[in-house]
Amino acid sequence: MTDPDTMIACAKPATPAAGRITVRKLWPHEREAYIAHLLRLEPEARRWRFGMTMTNAALRAYAGRSFCVGGLVHACCVDGVVRATGELQGLLDFPRQHGEAAFSVEKGWRRQGIGSRLFAAVLLSARNRGMSVLDVMCHPDNLAMKALARRHGVTLQLLYGETHGLARLDISTPSSLLTEALANTTSAFGAFLDAQTCYSQR
Ligand SMILES: CC(C)(COP(=O)(O)OP(=O)(O)OC[C@H]1O[C@@H](n2cnc3c(N)ncnc32)[C@H](O)[C@@H]1OP(=O)(O)O)[C@@H](O)C(=O)NCCC(=O)NCCS
Repeated sequence: MTDPDTMIACAKPATPAAGRITVRKLWPHEREAYIAHLLRLEPEARRWRFGMTMTNAALRAYAGRSFCVGGLVHACCVDGVVRATGELQGLLDFPRQHGEAAFSVEKGWRRQGIGSRLFAAVLLSARNRGMSVLDVMCHPDNLAMKALARRHGVTLQLLYGETHGLARLDISTPSSLLTEALANTTSAFGAFLDAQTCYSQR
């Protein structure tokens, strides 16, 4: 019998399609959609994303904590299904100066600029929450993540066998706050449409 995690992960075929794309923040009640996305990542992508082998149970436990330990998750949804995420951690730290970011895009949706859109969204959120530095860590062989970070002006450095990327953030301005506020408004509508799409596909 197929285990429940595999059933969730396989519920939607991973075929790229020109569907309706929304880039928005996930709400805590969308945790299951986040988990399903992480479960669909192939073993190599899981290792790249977390820096270690992750079992389904470990992914579930991780995603279960993501929203309640000062995390904020931006997602790219295609026809209501979460296909990529950019996670910002460090919101509960005091002083809140240093954030950490991590990204995952499902196979089939990579190299289409989705990682870049999520990176920009995470940078803006970190800046608007008073952070001055954003840290992105990856394996030195992770060419995709290194290219993505460089594209956003991140300086990369090899430290203790890991590549550390540091993005220096400007202080927030009325314009940066307004940009995020407007994105929130659009994303609330996007979340509604995503919920409606998922519901109608049941
Ligand atoms: C890293 C990752 C998030 C990139 O997402 P993506 O949606 O493919 O990225 P984009 O399409 O926005 O591409 C961004 C840049 O990276 C480059 N890039 C993407 N994949 C690449 C690859 N395999 N090799 C070299 N460069 C690559 C793109 O050409 C682009 O550079 P450009 O703007 O100079 O043309 C995605 O590959 C992924 O999820 N990998 C598995 C998980 C992971 O490695 N996470 C990172 C650890 S935090």
